[in-house]
Amino acid sequence: MELKVFRDAEEVARAAAQLFVEQGRQAVAESNGFCVALSGGSTPKILYQLLANPNEPFRQQIAWDKTLFFFTDERNVPPDHADSNYRMVYEAMFAHAPKTNVYRIRGEKQAADAASEYEAALVEVWGPSDPVFDLVLLGLGEDGHTASLFPHSPALKESERLVVAPWVEKLNTYRITMTLPVLNNGKSVVFLVTGASKAEVLRTVMSTDRKPDLYPAQAISPTSGAVSWLVDEAAARLCSTSNSSNTGAGNDLLNKKP
Ligand code: 6PG
Repeated sequence: MELKVFRDAEEVARAAAQLFVEQGRQAVAESNGFCVALSGGSTPKILYQLLANPNEPFRQQIAWDKTLFFFTDERNVPPDHADSNYRMVYEAMFAHAPKTNVYRIRGEKQAADAASEYEAALVEVWGPSDPVFDLVLLGLGEDGHTASLFPHSPALKESERLVVAPWVEKLNTYRITMTLPVLNNGKSVVFLVTGASKAEVLRTVMSTDRKPDLYPAQAISPTSGAVSWLVDEAAARLCSTSNSSNTGAGNDLLNKKP
């Protein structure tokens, strides 16, 4: 586990974009394809905008035709709904990017049907073996959830299914989400966490006191891959320096006392 701290959300997004380009280049060189599971929520939006922006250095370094975009989770809404993760990514990236391969979770369907359909799509791509994403992007909710794996969710105990549709009591809705076996099968899992509202939960999730049923982000532990946390100063404010490794632009920030 590596925690890298940057000045602000823009720098976090830039570091994530550089990582995306590098891991994409490596994946295409190794297997002629780059399979990515995208996070929803608001935090990754800047990253998605940077990747598709023609005035930025990242777009032309991405093999869009060889990249397969999946979603870690989706809300139970149509793709034009304000809460749709697909809509957020479409408006931030796909609408401005060269033709690419997008596997959307059909949130407009019955949640259980959307989950089964997406599971079938993963099986179509990977066959009988478990999906192996080259890169999995994740966020962190203030309650410690990640993807749509919420505290005490039965979905956390799922060991067979690839995609499920848990009911989320506190949101009074279903969500569709990849399960831990899939997320933890990722070659590289990267959390993007920014903003002061995440400081408490980030410290808790980073602590050695492991309660993955209460803080599902703690259940992310890739079997053979690496997990990186790209966070900004505001989110890392309560984290102890011992958590972080050399962060280039961010390192001295962490040691700066308020
Ligand atoms: C979703 C996400 C979810 C998100 C966290 C953080 O569909 O909402 O997949 O896990 O990453 O809720 O959300 P923010 O980035 O908006 O803080």
